Amino acid sequence: MSSSSESAPTATPRGALRRPAELSRSVDVSGLVDAEGGLLDRAIFTDEQIYRQEMRRIFAPSWLFLAHTDQFHRPGDFFTTWMGEDPVIVTMDKGRKIRAYLNSCRHRGARVCRADFGTTRNFTCTYHGWSFDLEGDLVSVPNKEGYPESFETSQWGLVEVPHVESYHGLIFGTWNPSPVSLRESLGDMAWYMDAMLDHDEQGTVVVGGVHKWVLEGNWKLAAEQFATDWYHVNMSHASALQVLAPAGKKPKQEIVHRSGRQYVDPNGHGAGFPVHPRNRFDAKTVHDWFDYDALRERLGEARVEGPLTNGHATVFPNFSYLPVNGSIRIWHPKGPDRMEVWAWTIVDKSMPEEVREAQRLYNLRTFGPSGVFEQDDGENWSEVQAIAGGFITNSVALNYQMGMGGEREDGRHPGRTSELYSDAAGRSFYARWRELMNTRAWHEEDRA
Ligand code: FES
Ligand SMILES: [Fe+2]
Repeated sequence: MSSSSESAPTATPRGALRRPAELSRSVDVSGLVDAEGGLLDRAIFTDEQIYRQEMRRIFAPSWLFLAHTDQFHRPGDFFTTWMGEDPVIVTMDKGRKIRAYLNSCRHRGARVCRADFGTTRNFTCTYHGWSFDLEGDLVSVPNKEGYPESFETSQWGLVEVPHVESYHGLIFGTWNPSPVSLRESLGDMAWYMDAMLDHDEQGTVVVGGVHKWVLEGNWKLAAEQFATDWYHVNMSHASALQVLAPAGKKPKQEIVHRSGRQYVDPNGHGAGFPVHPRNRFDAKTVHDWFDYDALRERLGEARVEGPLTNGHATVFPNFSYLPVNGSIRIWHPKGPDRMEVWAWTIVDKSMPEEVREAQRLYNLRTFGPSGVFEQDDGENWSEVQAIAGGFITNSVALNYQMGMGGEREDGRHPGRTSELYSDAAGRSFYARWRELMNTRAWHEEDRA
């Protein structure tokens, strides 16, 4: 339940007091992102005030990935995560509806659930013992008779995320009280996502748990790279490409071919996918199991020969995935110079056990926390971040000019695409970021 529209002069029970506007002064970021000219100021990776503004204007209004539907099978199953820096509980209520709550006690603010996941009947705060049911209602207050008569438990339930929707197994939530639908916000991006999520009627399930690790680096470095950057692959991942190559091949033969496309979404999403047969780096067991004729019939040739086989993508702002190994991940912001990566492996529900296991191991080897590709990427983001705080360094602009003006409708893939090697989706990612950062969010309109 949203609280921001309430406007009582004193405390509004499910929400905020009347916070002075000075606490959320905003910076005009126009001078930091020149998306049209392909230039970026590094302050967007280092500045604390900009980071706080991202929490208010990027994370609070956007649809954010929460969890996979397969994590909830019976009432009381829960998973705790973050929306920006806000802790949330995602759970199935008694009516089997997936709901999400701010994981913060209405009494003194402690988390009411400190477990990563599990099954419960109530969320009981371990500080003083207030207890909330699966519907978020406050159902037990120790020493309740000590409160004034005006105290009503119905006014002190958990703050609920007002909109939770799912798309092919992926659950998203937003704090925005009147958002466009999740499906609408995905636009043509959904066509590309279906290359991983919609192989058959049965959909996907999660194998194993959620891997979590911390990286020194701004969350956008990872999100933009998954949206736009195939350029780094041959250089950064040279040794990994050789390791994965069939024995007897020379290093030169393992260079990723440039033929492919990059989808450039007007809402800041992006997906890059090579189409050359040499660029297939999938697990053999999984590859052998797929019925490619059936996939072509269901998803179409263009999707099977492109986005399904390889590639990586970002749903703005901070959800990314890799169709080739079923990795889905979120880049949780933890300050301007830190992120926490949470990664799941998803597989087709129809896959037999040995194929699931092959995919899980393949994902671990490539994009697990110690995976041969993942390590290269994390190293790069941390490298960029490590020096970005220098005063002179910070004021030297970065280049995102590759493929300028090259986006077009290619007649094969929906929306606009560019060459595979291009910064087009990156420019679009930052154009969207700039637009949101310069737009008053709903919670500010109340104070206008
Ligand atoms: S902070 Fe939760 S009961 Fe006091
Ligand atoms: Fe990479």
